[in-house]
Amino acid sequence: MITNLNASFSNISNNIKRSAIREILKLTQNPEVISFAGGLPAPESFPVNDLNEIVSTLLKEDGPASLQYDATEGILELRELLVEKYRAEGINCTLQNLIITTASQQGLDLVGKIFINNNDSIICGSPSYLGGISAFTSYGAKIHSIELDEFGLRADLLEQKLKELQKAGTKPKFIYIIPDFQNPTGITMPESRRLEIIALAHIYDILIVEDSPYREIRFEGQTQRTMYELDKDNHVITLGTFSKIVAPGFRIGWVLAPPEINEKIVIAKQSTDLCTPTFVQKIAVRYMKSPYFLTNLNKTIELYKHRRNVMINQLERNMPKGVTWTVPEGGLFLFLTLPEHMDAEQLFYKAVENKVAFVLGKVFYSNGKITNTLRLNFSYVNDEKTILGIQRLSYLIQRELQLCVV
Ligand SMILES: Cc1ncc(COP(=O)(O)O)c(C=O)c1O
Repeated sequence: MITNLNASFSNISNNIKRSAIREILKLTQNPEVISFAGGLPAPESFPVNDLNEIVSTLLKEDGPASLQYDATEGILELRELLVEKYRAEGINCTLQNLIITTASQQGLDLVGKIFINNNDSIICGSPSYLGGISAFTSYGAKIHSIELDEFGLRADLLEQKLKELQKAGTKPKFIYIIPDFQNPTGITMPESRRLEIIALAHIYDILIVEDSPYREIRFEGQTQRTMYELDKDNHVITLGTFSKIVAPGFRIGWVLAPPEINEKIVIAKQSTDLCTPTFVQKIAVRYMKSPYFLTNLNKTIELYKHRRNVMINQLERNMPKGVTWTVPEGGLFLFLTLPEHMDAEQLFYKAVENKVAFVLGKVFYSNGKITNTLRLNFSYVNDEKTILGIQRLSYLIQRELQLCVV
């Protein structure tokens, strides 16, 4: 080994923080622990048999071509299908607006790569998806966080922050938003708030990065138009993915953006992975064209809706007074708030001892100051375990509250 390996590591590698969630998940790997911690889709929702059939016909019909390199932008047929899907929703886009990425995490990383210089400012909700924040901070981004309310990122505080930064001569590179069933809170931003934020983006001439992996998993209520559609002036980059609508092991996502931005992303992607696996893209095309796609998606939505209801029902029955939670209209998570004086971290270790786990809300706040929240995933665990897990958690919270009073 060379003498001073640390001195050889790049600034980017030194900026990358070990994921707090991955570390926490290690503690929850014991199969006896009922874990609401991961952001995992239900394995029962993965279309194993359908894909088995599709893969064997693909290999028979396309042979070696299905295993060849292809364009960095993604294979044409898949891009066409996704453009068609957006156009059917009323979104005005063409092939030039849409490129394929190796799932949306790569989209976030490439957005960071093409926009962020060391010390550049960006704006995020607080709390927000940790994987997004890490992708941006690895390129040296300085994060300015804006509190959320029940409708998502607060436009009044955003305006205040933008004014403040403008006075200081700083122009943030973009605003990072997860408008649909946000990770970690489950909150969906209504159209009025989306429009307020877009208006601010226009006034202050800033891009918006709209990250929406859960959008299609809606149980009830009105689908909200994407920020991409609402913006009429090329200020929005939207990221989508197959991870929650087919399977995360696909590792296929996409970027919907103005062509000038996509050109840069494609160049950046060339040096990252040349192209997203052709084989999986071809499987995705056949799967999307088959009747299985919509049938399975609808089944997945029904399953998660049921699991959300089971969790909410148990929370209502068992949680002591003073504990509140969000009731998401879709997605995979809800966010629970303990009474202010309670520390979720202390609860976490006791919970793992008692074989139930969650993710500390604290890790999703860039300042780490809010310590009484937790994220619960409802998509992965079956009914029986959800009932037992929420009972265990409620009992522990009740006991902590009694100890606090004594
Ligand atoms: C908000 C958000 N964005 C992006 C991702 C990354 O998803 P993927 O890379 O699987 O598409 C996730 C994963 O859970 C997420 O919650």
